[in-house]
Amino acid sequence: MNRIFSGVQPTGNLHLGNYLGAIRNWVRLQTDYECIFCVVDMHAITMWQEPTQLRSHIREVAAAFIAAGIDPNKHILFNQSQVPAHAELAWIFNCVARMGWLNRMTQFKEKAGKDRENASVGLFAYPNLMSADILLYKATHVPVGEDQKQHLELARDTAQKFNGDYGVDFFPLPEPLIFGTAARVMNLRDGTKKMSKSDPSDYSRINMTDDADAIALKIRKAKTDPEPLPATLAGLEGRPEAANLMGIYAGLADLTLDQVCARFGGRPFSDFKKELADLAVSVLTPIQDEMRRLLADTGAVDAALRDGAGRARALAAPILREVQDIVGFVRP
Ligand code: AMP
Ligand code: TRP
Repeated sequence: MNRIFSGVQPTGNLHLGNYLGAIRNWVRLQTDYECIFCVVDMHAITMWQEPTQLRSHIREVAAAFIAAGIDPNKHILFNQSQVPAHAELAWIFNCVARMGWLNRMTQFKEKAGKDRENASVGLFAYPNLMSADILLYKATHVPVGEDQKQHLELARDTAQKFNGDYGVDFFPLPEPLIFGTAARVMNLRDGTKKMSKSDPSDYSRINMTDDADAIALKIRKAKTDPEPLPATLAGLEGRPEAANLMGIYAGLADLTLDQVCARFGGRPFSDFKKELADLAVSVLTPIQDEMRRLLADTGAVDAALRDGAGRARALAAPILREVQDIVGFVRP
């Protein structure tokens, strides 16, 4: 049986990029795979999180998953900190992966910025925890956005080195699953930057919690260029903002970018933006309503997470025991 593992950090401002690039695709995987979805709270604290905020973000992400259509009964949904085996395997991987490998990680360079000496040790070792997340369940496939490909390569290298160092054929090499349309949703104010949770301008992204007016306003204010929309893909060359907005439309409507070009080619942005806003609102509103319902009483979300963590612990335990045996730890 093919097994999926993926994670989202509960660091706030869950946005349209997370939805189109990640969550929505995961919902669809549920029919063909056994899925494990994780709210990676231990990854989140690699950069300081205000505890009250962290708590509400963990529940918000879990509610978004469920509202978007993840079934926590058929599959597993849990928060990482509640399955200690992640941290235990991550430590072993800290001793397998090499400094040189981690030094090449572009996400660390971006997040640490100029002051690398002042970044947390956890931020540097972050990819090893991510490898542990995946390999603890011997997941075969990992759906991620483009930005996580490098971390997944590292997980494969670590699995391979572990197998080689100990002369075993234990960990499978996990495959990335990268989705085509809207794999990368860009910033509404700058089509060359990724839409991100941490951009200081709220106008740069559509949050999962934005109401219909906010969504329409942000799309109206989104950066464009003076030309009408192109009728072909080639016409998107050198027009990052047009490519992004049309890509978002394609993602939300489940069309190819080609089809969106054919439909809107020659029309002005003003027309297109109205239709895009209506579409975004119609896709997001039902999810938002369900999120609000779930979050009105944390009991249901907490129960789903608790149950998921129990089942995750049960899956992880025998694999971690085998790892301990392979490494040479005594389990008296
Ligand atoms: P993060 O927000 O970095 O915790 O990412 C959570 C998931 O959403 C990962 O699978 C990312 O690859 C994906 N993701 C984040 N931002 C974007 C974006 N702008 N476009 C597409 N996918 C994204
Ligand atoms: N690093 C991922 C991100 O920032 C989140 C993540 C943590 C993850 N562990 C994972 C994704 C395991 C896939 C598999 O988006």
